[in-house]
Amino acid sequence: LLRSLPAPLRILITAGPTHEPIDPIRFISNHSSGQQGYTLAKAFHDLGQQVILVSGPTALHPPPQVEVIDVETALEMHEACMEVLPVDIAIMAAAVSDWRVQFVPDQKMKKSQHQGPLQLTLIQNPDILAEIAQHSQYRPKLVIGFAAETENIEDNALQKLKKKKCDWIIANDVSASTGIMGGEENQLQVFTTHSKEGWSQKKWPRMKKQLLASYLAQSILEYYNNLL
Ligand code: C5P
Repeated sequence: LLRSLPAPLRILITAGPTHEPIDPIRFISNHSSGQQGYTLAKAFHDLGQQVILVSGPTALHPPPQVEVIDVETALEMHEACMEVLPVDIAIMAAAVSDWRVQFVPDQKMKKSQHQGPLQLTLIQNPDILAEIAQHSQYRPKLVIGFAAETENIEDNALQKLKKKKCDWIIANDVSASTGIMGGEENQLQVFTTHSKEGWSQKKWPRMKKQLLASYLAQSILEYYNNLL
């Protein structure tokens, strides 16, 4: 018997760090590996969904058949995400640089041109998660952000939910004692908004990152389907 499958959902996922140029050969960045976003992209793809992965520079191979848009800077990531809208679900797993260098010269900066300390002026990058969550025209039904915290996980996660107006914050405790940063396992705390009761919190058991991505993808789809 032929039964038509539900149409795949369009899911935007950001991943990796961004590179913020100082001059044509130098940049500012962070230690994000991109693993979280890439494993989630694979998990959703395996569940038959249409994933668009907007990725900063990483050493990872994207999952086969997933559409990838490679970007370098936060501004490029922002532009790529806006072009991908509308989507059903947006999941912002990238470690976007909060700042960028205001004036980037066309040529390599030379020590001989800068006596003494070099001063760079940094200006803030757009908050992609907050902008998508507050988009007047294309606000996805479900918008999810991440929070890597070393302390006050609950306070920070709730503040982010409120300030950015996303629906979920997935928080993990990356303090050194947990061994989570760069390790094989992760432990998540998921903070979810509800129009009636305010918010709720669930602490997930510690498990391998790959397995976590697959449970997370299932849980996100289940939540999404209950929204309809
Ligand atoms: O405010 P903070 O950077 O801690 O928030 C983390 C969340 O916000 C992550 O989901 C990250 O992908 C997203 N974010 C973003 N654009 C920024 C900064 C953070 O989408 N410029």
